[in-house]
Amino acid sequence: MKKIIAVNAGPRMGWNTDTLITEASKGAVSAGAEVEKFNLFKLEKYTGCRSCFGCKKEANKGHCIIKDGLTPVLDAIRESDGLIIGSPNYLSELTASFRALYERLVFQNLTYNAETPCCNPRRIPVLLIMTSNAPDDMYMNLMQNYKQVFDGFVGPTEILISGDTLQLKDYGKTDWPWTYFDVEAKKERHEKVFPQECKAAFEKGAALVKGTQ
Ligand SMILES: Cc1cc2nc3c(=O)[nH]c(=O)nc-3n(C[C@H](O)[C@H](O)[C@H](O)COP(=O)(O)O)c2cc1C
Repeated sequence: MKKIIAVNAGPRMGWNTDTLITEASKGAVSAGAEVEKFNLFKLEKYTGCRSCFGCKKEANKGHCIIKDGLTPVLDAIRESDGLIIGSPNYLSELTASFRALYERLVFQNLTYNAETPCCNPRRIPVLLIMTSNAPDDMYMNLMQNYKQVFDGFVGPTEILISGDTLQLKDYGKTDWPWTYFDVEAKKERHEKVFPQECKAAFEKGAALVKGTQ
């Protein structure tokens, strides 16, 4: 049975990012895989890459040698058949938690050797999900850059972007008016478009397992 790792790099359980990850995971299960999920905000303490170059030693190739909260996640991804990872957009980037995992996941596979730049012997398909307040196309370049790096160092990567998300259940209860947003338009989008994105996440999760992504 194929094993898929799902990673939530956002703090809010059951919200937009987590929901899309859950749907993608259900899709993976529907295609016959088992899914193990990690919530990065619930792990023991961890950091991003510490530039120790331990992974640049022959004996440790492809293995980050730092032992902390991210170690079980890195180990699980290394052994897995696919990765579903999602993050909200924070200040035009993915979350700091995502970045910590991303640095360690990619850098351990980067050799600095021009002939063989990547030492990852086991490429796995990746579904990278991002949610944002901004419309879907705002962060396309950002996501394409991530796709390129995942393609090169982890495996073939699909992107799913869900923009203009509903950030609050009730925008009427804020201490001052959040006039950035057209609340009615957001609600309508959440009711009409978000379910389609959930369906797309399910299908992409299944495709990840079937090898048809
Ligand atoms: C600290 C913080 C920074 C944010 N920065 C941005 C941003 O730069 N661009 C954007 O489109 N949305 C931004 N957002 C909104 C979230 O990306 C958006 O609401 C997302 O869907 C939240 O995901 P969640 O519902 O899974 O928590 C920010 C939210 C927070 C909490």
